[in-house]
Amino acid sequence: MSTPTIQFPAAATPASIVDALRAVAGDPPKVRASFAKGRCVRGTYRPSDRAEEITKSRSFTRPSRVLARFSVGCGGNPDVAETDRLALRGFSFRLGDVGHRSDILTQSAPMHFARTLDQMLAFLEARIPGPDGKPDLEKVRAFSAANPETLHRESYIAAHPLPAGFAGTTYWAVHAFPATNSRGETRFIKFKVVPVGGDVAPTEDEADAKSADFLYDDLETRIATGDIRFSVIALLDRPGDRTLDVTIRWPDEDDREAVRLGTIVITGLEANDACDASIFDPANLADGIGHPPDEIFAARHAAYTISLAKRR
Ligand code: HEM
Repeated sequence: MSTPTIQFPAAATPASIVDALRAVAGDPPKVRASFAKGRCVRGTYRPSDRAEEITKSRSFTRPSRVLARFSVGCGGNPDVAETDRLALRGFSFRLGDVGHRSDILTQSAPMHFARTLDQMLAFLEARIPGPDGKPDLEKVRAFSAANPETLHRESYIAAHPLPAGFAGTTYWAVHAFPATNSRGETRFIKFKVVPVGGDVAPTEDEADAKSADFLYDDLETRIATGDIRFSVIALLDRPGDRTLDVTIRWPDEDDREAVRLGTIVITGLEANDACDASIFDPANLADGIGHPPDEIFAARHAAYTISLAKRR
């Protein structure tokens, strides 16, 4: 059997990606094009005494308040069931004081599903539902066969148990960020945000018994008991690490040298308006953490701005 030819769309743009994200979700009004279901929270950040070895960014070297949002799914479906084992969890947070704020957007998988913007658009377009409300599985299969790296993220999630809650999940910011310390030394880091106390996964039976809103319920219970803490970790680069491909991890990423930059404690629920009125903007990084050099990162600021305009 011959493999169908994959048509790559001509030069994807942030706007065409936002349209495709929305189309995959069935174009629901007034919600984010991605990670549409979420809950706004607040908390605090406290730096470790090693943060300055890695970055001079005052977002990471000074204590501050934190505005954050936990979310579900990489798609724009605001009603996604939290029991969907392939749905990602998201954790976006803004830390630092006026003039030194940074937004870090993380998800419960260490890689993105596309290496280039054109590939991202083609991946999404293959999944836009047809008149019967379902994507054409033949098209999805053919695309995956021709673009195996677009399955890395899904394979990662499928190989890991459903996290018991937003609190017991590890998150990654995926890209390689250039970090500059006060001595002017720059190296690439990857952000990993690890729950203090480790990842918590329910048994298969417990997972089957979960309600469609179990993440929210767990969040509220844990906030009431003061129980949500994350270590913000910098994974340090080594010579030869690839910094442009967001579909792969660095070799031995989980076992390599890492520095804890600080701790986030989630202390309360916040009105959702506080998170919905603007964007967590990946390009908003205080001096000391630079923009990752890959083309996927370069498109994000514009895409989030367009999504905000469409959901207002
Ligand atoms: C590469 C790794 C990526 C990660 C970790 C990531 C993570 C996230 C998270 C956590 C959110 C929810 C933000 C919130 O809580 O308000 C989000 C939203 C969004 N993402 Fe991404 N994302 C990634 C890549 C991309 C790319 C490449 C694009 C498009 C070019 C994109 C487009 C969007 C859009 C349009 C939204 C909705 C923005 C809004 O309306 O506020 N993302 N993403």
